[in-house]
Amino acid sequence: MVWNPHDLNPAIASIAKGRTIGSIAIKLDNVSKQFEGASSPAVASLNLDIEEGSIVVLIGPSGCGKTTTLRMINRLIEPTSGRIVINGEDVTQRPVAELRREIGYVIQQVGLFPHQTIANNIATVPKMLGWEKQHISDRIKELANLVGLEPSLLERYPDELSGGQQQRVGVARALAADPPVLLMDEPFGAVDPIVRTRLQDELLELQARVGKTIVLVTHDIDEALKIADRIALLNVGGILEQYSSADELLAEPANAFVEEFVGEDRSVKRLQLRTVADLPFHQGPVIAATAGAAAARNVMREYASEWFGVTSQDVFLGWVHGDDLQDETPLESVPRSVPAAQVQPDSTLRSAMQIIMTSHTSVAVIDDGGRFGGVVTLELIRSSLEEETGR
Ligand SMILES: Nc1ncnc2c1ncn2[C@@H]1O[C@H](COP(=O)(O)OP(=O)(O)OP(=O)(O)O)[C@@H](O)[C@H]1O
Ligand SMILES: [Mg+2]
Repeated sequence: MVWNPHDLNPAIASIAKGRTIGSIAIKLDNVSKQFEGASSPAVASLNLDIEEGSIVVLIGPSGCGKTTTLRMINRLIEPTSGRIVINGEDVTQRPVAELRREIGYVIQQVGLFPHQTIANNIATVPKMLGWEKQHISDRIKELANLVGLEPSLLERYPDELSGGQQQRVGVARALAADPPVLLMDEPFGAVDPIVRTRLQDELLELQARVGKTIVLVTHDIDEALKIADRIALLNVGGILEQYSSADELLAEPANAFVEEFVGEDRSVKRLQLRTVADLPFHQGPVIAATAGAAAARNVMREYASEWFGVTSQDVFLGWVHGDDLQDETPLESVPRSVPAAQVQPDSTLRSAMQIIMTSHTSVAVIDDGGRFGGVVTLELIRSSLEEETGR
């Protein structure tokens, strides 16, 4: 059977389409912008290939041309030279109104219309497109639900909402006509770190469901590392210093500017990008209860460990201290410490490292079903950082 993404429902089809490897949704080809009267270009010979269904983050110091780059994509600013191609078509060949319908735009500082209700703010583009009233009101409700806005907020005005709520409205407004491309200029800039983390998580969930091509601007390197498939790090003058995955940016900074920008703790930051499940399986000083006391002594010697772990039918029972081992007592009955030193397969390597540092035993990997999935050691974590960068 030939698999056809159009057989799926539209949301899933667009995710499936987004995963097509190598399909470029947006291409910036040698794009420059020289504002009149400026001594140097805001953006200089920028080349970027943005894959369909991916999140690309533009980051860099203030004034390095991030907003200018976004605005050239939807032609709010025209490039001085170079070409921007969306889905194979040069944007200058497209009528501006039609182009912008396909590109949602979340502007810096949210920019809601202050004298319009939240519902009318969200309805901006659908109204422009002349949608039927009922269709618009259904869509507003659907979007409010999608971005996590209480329906009771819809009849309020922007200044009656918190910063985080306003940012959700900004995202809902940009998504209103279901554009395949979304440009987001510091969409979470105006909120505290806790709300920010939540909005980032929600964006990732939303992206998994709706599969847009997203270009997002931020000042925050941790935000970039968390949400980007690829990061474009720009320098003043719109010079692209590096364009790579988060892992690559941290592992192989292209130059001193990148190295300084990502920070001294880049190895620790890399640990946040990986999970325990990415490590190779390592048995560690862990044996089945049926193996007996002699085997326990052997395994402690082999691993130079004062502790050993006991499993029963693959379920991890806990850690036992060597002093508590008695030849005549079956291993299942030997006193065990509470098995606190454990992580889940989806724990980050950073949190695994934290637990190793504060525990006196090895750390066991235990899944939701209580099954033993190997042991994590500092050495395993360290050597994983030496592997080729993936992603
Ligand atoms: N309309 C304009 N006319 C003249 N110069 C402009 C214009 N818009 C932006 N610039 C200049 O272009 C450069 C890049 O501006 P841009 O807004 O793209 O920076 P940015 O990276 O988004 O900065 P920030 O992080 O502060 O938002 C700056 O030097 C800015 O002063
Ligand atoms: Mg800006």
